[in-house]
Amino acid sequence: MGVRHFLQFRDLSREELEHLFARTRWIKERFKRYERYWPLEDRTLAMIFEKQSTRTRLSFEAGMQQLGGAAIFLSTRDSQLGRGEPVEDAAQVISRMCDIVMIRTFEQEIIERFARNSRVPVINGLTNEYHPCQILADVYTFIERRGSIRGRTVAWIGDSNNVCNTWLQAAEVLDFNVHVSTPPGYEVEPERAGLYGTDHYEEFRDPLAAATGADLVTTDVWTSMGFESENEERRRAFQDWQVDAEMMRAAKPDALFMHCLPAHRGEEVAAEVIDGPLSVVWDEAENRLHAQKALLEFLLLGKVDAR
Ligand code: CP
Ligand code: NVA
Repeated sequence: MGVRHFLQFRDLSREELEHLFARTRWIKERFKRYERYWPLEDRTLAMIFEKQSTRTRLSFEAGMQQLGGAAIFLSTRDSQLGRGEPVEDAAQVISRMCDIVMIRTFEQEIIERFARNSRVPVINGLTNEYHPCQILADVYTFIERRGSIRGRTVAWIGDSNNVCNTWLQAAEVLDFNVHVSTPPGYEVEPERAGLYGTDHYEEFRDPLAAATGADLVTTDVWTSMGFESENEERRRAFQDWQVDAEMMRAAKPDALFMHCLPAHRGEEVAAEVIDGPLSVVWDEAENRLHAQKALLEFLLLGKVDAR
C-alpha cells in the first residue's frame, strides 16, 4: 500500500480508528508511569504553520520527542513558502528530508496538493475545512469518560466550521448522531464537510432544541482563523448561540461539554459551563498529545500490536 495520509477524518476506517484509540490508551498509561517508549527514534517530523497555534504545535513537538524522534517548526513567515515557493516543490524537498509532515494552513486544497507530491505521510493540523486531529482527541476523550460513542448524540452549537465539519465526518465513520444548530446563513454545507449523506446529522433552528437529550454538547469560536474580517457581523449573528447553563440542563444529566480551545467566555460559551463540572476541556487538550502519538506511530510503523 502507498503512503497513508491523515488529511480528513474519513482517511481512517472505523477499524483503524478503534486501533488508534486502543493505542492512545496504552501510550497514555505508559507515559503517565514515566516509562520510556521510543519507537520513532531517528525519525523527524516537519511542522508547517501558516496559522497560529498553541496546542497543536506543543502536542506534536512534545509528542514526537516523547516517542524518541525530533520535530522541526517551520512557519510561512520565515520559510520560502511565504515567498511563493510552490507547494508542490516544498513537498518534494521537505519529504526527502523528513519522515512525516504536519501542516496547518488555509484551504484544504493546499494540503492535498502537498500530499500528492510528498513521499511521506502528511497530517492535517487544521485547514479552513477540517481539524481531524482535534476530533481524534475529542472522541477519545468521550470514550475515556463514557465508553463507546456509537449511537450517541453530539450537539454542535454555533458555526459550521472546520471542527463542526470534522464532527460530522466522524459521525459517519463511527456511527453516531450530530444535532447541529447554526445561525441562519451559517448552515452546514454537506459537500464542503465531505459528507456522503445527511443520515448522521439533523439541523435545528433552536440551539436549545439541538442540545436537548445530547450526550455531549460542544461548540467553538464564532470567528475562525482566516475569517477575522467577518468578526463584527458574526458577533451579531451568533448572539443566541452561546452554550449556557440552561442548554447544559437540557442535555442528558451526565452530558459532557467540550471545546477545542482557545475559548471566548461570554461569547460561544458561558464561563460557568466551560469552568463547570461537566466540562472536560483540559482532558480534551491533553488527549491531543496522546492521540497524536498513536497517529504518528500508526502512520510511520503501521499497526503496532497492543503490548
Ligand atoms: N485546538 C487547537 O487546535 O488549538 P491550537 O490552535 O492552539 O493549536
Ligand atoms: N475553528 C477554529 C479552531 C481553532 C483551533 C479556527 O479554525 O480558528
